[in-house]
Amino acid sequence: MKDYSGRLKSETDAVNTIVAEYLPKPEGFQKKLIEAADYSVQVGGKRLRPMILLESYRLCGGSHEEICYPFMAALECIHSYSLVHDDLPAMDNDMYRRGNLTTHAKFGEDFGILAGDALLNFAFELILKAVSEAGNEEDRGRMSRAGRVIAEKSGIFGMAGGQSLDVELTGKPVSAQQLDFIFRLKTGALLEAAFAAGAILAGADDAVTETLQNAGLLVGMAFQIRDDILDVTGNEKTLGKPVLSDEKNDKTTYVTLYGLDKAQKDVEAYSDEAESRIRSCGDNDFLLWLVERLVSRNY
Ligand code: IPE
Ligand code: IPE
Ligand code: MG
Ligand code: MG
Ligand code: MG
Repeated sequence: MKDYSGRLKSETDAVNTIVAEYLPKPEGFQKKLIEAADYSVQVGGKRLRPMILLESYRLCGGSHEEICYPFMAALECIHSYSLVHDDLPAMDNDMYRRGNLTTHAKFGEDFGILAGDALLNFAFELILKAVSEAGNEEDRGRMSRAGRVIAEKSGIFGMAGGQSLDVELTGKPVSAQQLDFIFRLKTGALLEAAFAAGAILAGADDAVTETLQNAGLLVGMAFQIRDDILDVTGNEKTLGKPVLSDEKNDKTTYVTLYGLDKAQKDVEAYSDEAESRIRSCGDNDFLLWLVERLVSRNY
């Protein structure tokens, strides 16, 4: 496959610009809260979820990309909030993220909690503002459906639900079925939302939306297994976050349950399956390349 590294760089820059435009400006008596929230988002990150949303929209033949922008920013705010809370002392207790101090390490635990709260709410402010300002009823319908998927996949039936079982079972035996549930929800769900929201905003039919959403789940599985591998084999500097965090917290991971070899084989299998589903929905070589790359990513 063609090497899209240059394109990845320019797309990441473009996503960064879009996300930055939507972030709140630090001012007023809640300035420190806004600074902490903005810091969490702007300090770094691969921007995978907003990028996938846009590429899914493109794959489905969407023709006015600006409709995606508030949703891309919202998704990155939700993802960043999930990281801020994941790093808190009560959760994984990590001091580095995205190559810098975690939000709570820099602004204090209280502001870590509040910055997460603020980012989650702000995401839905962006989405509902976009819905209320939609130019026509067709777009309004698509936007509200996309918003609904993002809401569902962030909360009890998505990321937060997955994180809850993850922390509940920390230090305890975890079955294969429970680990699968944790991965699907804590990581798969937001990737499902990214693929599905892009498809919905482009006006894809239900079958295509569902296929892409499923591809997102498979990408999420591959992504989290690779994350567990990197926690053991990775390099802190390259990753931008601590290694051996899972061991420190006595977590059952894909690696502790199945070993490194099977873990890497399964990353490849999930990724292959995701690619074939994406292919069945249309042409987007860059998106396929992005998914392919997750198999061997080092950060
Ligand atoms: C980290 O996500 C959390 C997981 C779901 C494993 P990313 O690896 O996408 O983090 P950033 O956004 O690039 O920092
Ligand atoms: C958390 O998984 C995924 C989230 C929903 C934040 P991890 O706890 O393994 O993520 P990292 O390794 O800290 O990024
Ligand atoms: Mg965690
Ligand atoms: Mg963590
Ligand atoms: Mg991890």
